[in-house]
Amino acid sequence: MEATIVQDDIKHYPVLLNEIISVISPQHGGTFIDCTFGQGGYSKEILRFKKTKVIALDRDFESKKKANQILEKFPERFYFKNLRFSKLNNLKLKNENIKGIIFDLGYSLAQIKNPNKGLSFNSQGELNMMMGLNEFSANDVINKLEKEEIENILKYFGDEKDAKIISKNIIKFREKNKIKTQDLVDIIYKSKKNRNFKIHIATKTFQALRIFVNKEISELIYGLINSAKILKKDGVLAVVTFHSLEDRIVKYFFKNISQNKSVSRYEPKIEQKDLSFLMSQKKPINPSKKELEENQSSRSAKLRFVIKNKDSFEIETDIVEKFSDLLEIEKLGDKL
Ligand SMILES: C[S@@+](CC[C@H](N)C(=O)[O-])C[C@H]1O[C@@H](n2cnc3c(N)ncnc32)[C@H](O)[C@@H]1O
Repeated sequence: MEATIVQDDIKHYPVLLNEIISVISPQHGGTFIDCTFGQGGYSKEILRFKKTKVIALDRDFESKKKANQILEKFPERFYFKNLRFSKLNNLKLKNENIKGIIFDLGYSLAQIKNPNKGLSFNSQGELNMMMGLNEFSANDVINKLEKEEIENILKYFGDEKDAKIISKNIIKFREKNKIKTQDLVDIIYKSKKNRNFKIHIATKTFQALRIFVNKEISELIYGLINSAKILKKDGVLAVVTFHSLEDRIVKYFFKNISQNKSVSRYEPKIEQKDLSFLMSQKKPINPSKKELEENQSSRSAKLRFVIKNKDSFEIETDIVEKFSDLLEIEKLGDKL
């Protein structure tokens, strides 16, 4: 009950909304897949254009309430499914003219503030961090995995420089007591020599745990691959990222599917790939000054997009190999 109240009370601000709309051009009609429905900020805006249809997904079951309100208004043009976007290919889309697929990664403010989800370092009680449709929680990770495993998660998913000492102190603490959210914050605080940080001392560890618990690396990689496959000619794949790890993956994938490798004029000529995507703008789109003034938390948002050149289902990419070290760390979750 409490979670619902929190969700409803929080003002929602869809990030880079005008920019997303101008990139996907819904005024020409077609079907759009909103992979991260949240509170429906993007979906609602697309549906304002008459010839559009929206298929919306979200892993968080709480999104369903908002989705039902939209469904009442647009029963013919809106469809919602509680699904992880890596499973996009499970949707039956045979006759859909898919003109845009959008991702707004990360968490909504309502999720961060929801005490039941325990995503924030201000949360009380047991560690959780599950967004929805998960297999294990942060409680399992912190109280069950080995020292080196926790260290790798914090180092590679959170870029936490003190991963070694934090994981050592986690193991020491849990010999006597189960670690809850505020215990973890204390452990991190005591592990840090330099406490003069601009960001909260627990930010990086909590980010790492959220990414691991929600399998965000494989979600993103397979979400992108499957989107690239099902999009129709002239369709746009657009992604808003919030942290550098996500952005690194999206940037690599877009470059990988849209650019021929530069060939040295001294090397024998090799056949150039007939690529399916075009990247018309290499630099990401950032929030405007006005948006930053109105919504400070949009400051790290970056929008990147590519346009499909042809109707082909086969996509050539080595993104899985490129990020295999991160995918390997994610597999530690199979033990839980
Ligand atoms: C930043 S919010 C999106 C907000 C949305 N654009 C709006 O305007 O209301 C991100 C949403 O994506 C969802 N999400 C994150 N990862 C997901 C995944 N792998 N599959 C499906 N939904 C996911 C979260 O549950 C959350 O509701």
